[in-house]
Amino acid sequence: MKAIAVIPGQAHLQWIERPEPVTGAADDVKARVLRVGICGTDREEAGGGRALAPQGRQELVIGHEMFGQVVEVGAGVTRVKCGDYVVFTVRRGCMRCVQCRAARPDMCLTGQYLERGIWGLDGYQAEYVVDREEHAVRVPPHLEAVGVLCEPLSVAEKAVNEAMLMQSARMPAGAVGREWFSGRRCLVAGLGPIGLLGAMALRLRGAEVYGLDVVDAGSARPRWLEGIGGHYVDGRRIAAHEASSALGAMDLIFEATGVPALVFNLLDALARSGICVLTGIPGGTRPIQVAGAELVRRLVLSNQAMIGSVNAAPAHWEAAVEDLDAAVQRWGDPIVQLITHRHPARDFEAALEHHGSDEIKVVLEWGDKDSRAVSGTGSGTGSATR
Ligand code: BGC
Repeated sequence: MKAIAVIPGQAHLQWIERPEPVTGAADDVKARVLRVGICGTDREEAGGGRALAPQGRQELVIGHEMFGQVVEVGAGVTRVKCGDYVVFTVRRGCMRCVQCRAARPDMCLTGQYLERGIWGLDGYQAEYVVDREEHAVRVPPHLEAVGVLCEPLSVAEKAVNEAMLMQSARMPAGAVGREWFSGRRCLVAGLGPIGLLGAMALRLRGAEVYGLDVVDAGSARPRWLEGIGGHYVDGRRIAAHEASSALGAMDLIFEATGVPALVFNLLDALARSGICVLTGIPGGTRPIQVAGAELVRRLVLSNQAMIGSVNAAPAHWEAAVEDLDAAVQRWGDPIVQLITHRHPARDFEAALEHHGSDEIKVVLEWGDKDSRAVSGTGSGTGSATR
């Protein structure tokens, strides 16, 4: 079968041929890949950045935002059946720490976890994939068009949930559920897919959401945000450190830019006892200057919290499916418009390019035979150097 792979460290993607995976264990689930999303991590891998090939191999099959259809199950599988739509999760735990043993590899304590399509395990940009039932999440048929958003949404769900858990532990008893968000003022910084899906999860919980980016008000991201009742803030007109005086203090800042200098400026907008949750993963090593004493003073004197959040646990994947369902019921078609660019798998070079300010989510379509057809097959053909 065909797959798209990178040799970690090299800015070069290529078609490769791999044997079609087979189900061996009783809990194996085999899916035909229908579409796979592309995010900043894929682009980083394709540019020679953070990636690790499986042990004993040179190349890594990329892709971690999959959506597929079950074509075969082992004898012991009960939660999914042939024909079901399914997504597979990303991270596989070290199984040595207490978090991984408790099915929370997203909180792995050793750092020895693996991630499909990113770190040490082949990913999902391939015709077929096999994984264990415990890593499969069923997506109802009416969410077929948006199911590929489950992975980025699961990441946003975890961040939102972590913020809620932290805050409810610090507040008088009672505010322990989704209701904590009701009427809260939330600033989402960076309106890429994670930021917008975070905004969606927050709107579904009744929060007042402001979304900061540096694109024209009429472009795709602000329009999508406004479609779910959020307010766009053009960061070119309001500097991050002025956000507080312009918009009022924020109970929650959901950071999804991966721009460290912005992160520290944004803290000026955080309310007393507010929380800032970081999801962006910055590249590079360039140092930045921060007003350290002022920053720490404010964090302490105002009981503020700043936390990082990565990946997602099974519960966050389930929450992603539930919230996609709720969002489609509430806002309808606009939700699918988060997917702004679709490319047949054979056009992966074009898909990996940036598509300008009208890009939100780019996906590779694997569904039709035609979308996988390339002139010539095998390693080295249809390759892209970036
Ligand atoms: C993925 C996460 C992953 C993280 C770190 C992100 O792009 O969505 O699942 O844990 O990268 O590798």
